[in-house]
Amino acid sequence: MQYNIINVKATKEYNICIGRGVLAAIGELVAPVLGKCRLAVLTDSNVDALYGSAMMEHLAAAGYDACKFVIPAGEASKCADNLLAFLNFLAGEQLTRSDAIIAFGGGVVGDLGGLSASLYLRGVKYIQVPTTLLAAVDSSVGGKTAIDIPAGKNLVGSFYQPSLVCCDTVLMDTLPAEIYRDGCAEVIKYGMILDAALYDTLHTLPFDREAVVARCVEIKRDVVQQDEFDNGVRGLLNFGHTFGHAIEKLSNFGVSHGEAVAKGMVIAARVAPLCGLCDVADELEALLVQYGFDTSCPYAANEIYDALLSDKKRRGGNISVVLPRAVGDCILYDMPVEDLKELLQKVI
Ligand SMILES: NC(=O)c1ccc[n+]([C@@H]2O[C@H](COP(=O)([O-])OP(=O)(O)OC[C@H]3O[C@@H](n4cnc5c(N)ncnc54)[C@H](O)[C@@H]3O)[C@@H](O)[C@H]2O)c1
Repeated sequence: MQYNIINVKATKEYNICIGRGVLAAIGELVAPVLGKCRLAVLTDSNVDALYGSAMMEHLAAAGYDACKFVIPAGEASKCADNLLAFLNFLAGEQLTRSDAIIAFGGGVVGDLGGLSASLYLRGVKYIQVPTTLLAAVDSSVGGKTAIDIPAGKNLVGSFYQPSLVCCDTVLMDTLPAEIYRDGCAEVIKYGMILDAALYDTLHTLPFDREAVVARCVEIKRDVVQQDEFDNGVRGLLNFGHTFGHAIEKLSNFGVSHGEAVAKGMVIAARVAPLCGLCDVADELEALLVQYGFDTSCPYAANEIYDALLSDKKRRGGNISVVLPRAVGDCILYDMPVEDLKELLQKVI
């Protein structure tokens, strides 16, 4: 079987295997990394219905004794109750330190599975098997894990790298169109921040999924290797997210993450020329529209400003926003929060 292997050297060194049909090879990919052990598969109800039995059969065929825990599909499942329920399940199954977790699903399962792995017995190995485009290009790589708490999204988490990522791009064929499109916003983001050639290829639809996922993963790998703990350059991955998070929050998460990021990227691109940087906003907006995104901002500048005041990227009186200097070249731009208020009033 043909697949791409991308190696990551972070606190832990691991491979990311990307290709069509990789799921069938999960046993042989896992074996050299984990050896003989028991496995606990965490998945959600949608992924379980589509691919749960295939996953369990492939593991059994490779000689693995595996158990499975299924959470309801959806962001609401990325919660403390499910974290505790899964940890209790692992204990009930008597998993030991030499056993491992497989997070099989989108970003919700990946984040919850990763956090559980970092906590259970003070840390067991885990494998990411992403099934959404977003999880493939973003959440399964880089070791950020989290759950949401009532005070906010992703407020409880850890940096904890997986031991392997197996990304079977065929599984994305069953994604609802809006969920696939959410992932496309992240793909366009990678092109904008660091790779003009990738960005150019995205004008031809449908794009070559395997090649594009692999390139996005390489970009994320390079960023994570420079700044695993998110104190500098990793902030570039937030292009469109500072404003996007504000829009998600204002909509009470009625606007999807990808749609919010698309709107946020356009706002950032419109702010850039006002800071003496380039003007690629019309070009970026046209590409996002080609993908079916509604790029309009449904909120007033003041509302966006108030919502982003609590953003994690705010330090003291300053806020760091990612702005394009050109297609494929974004920078972290620090400005006083008050200045951002004025800029937003000019572009929204
Ligand atoms: N850790 C990180 O670095 C990081 C980065 C970005 C996002 N995230 C997190 O990721 C989450 C969003 O991830 P997501 O968009 O993958 O959401 P998700 O995990 O909720 O998946 C979206 C939907 O797609 C369904 N699904 C998954 N795979 C499928 C398939 N192959 N076929 C059909 N349906 C399928 C799921 O059941 C769900 O209903 C958020 O919680 C976000 O905070 C984390």
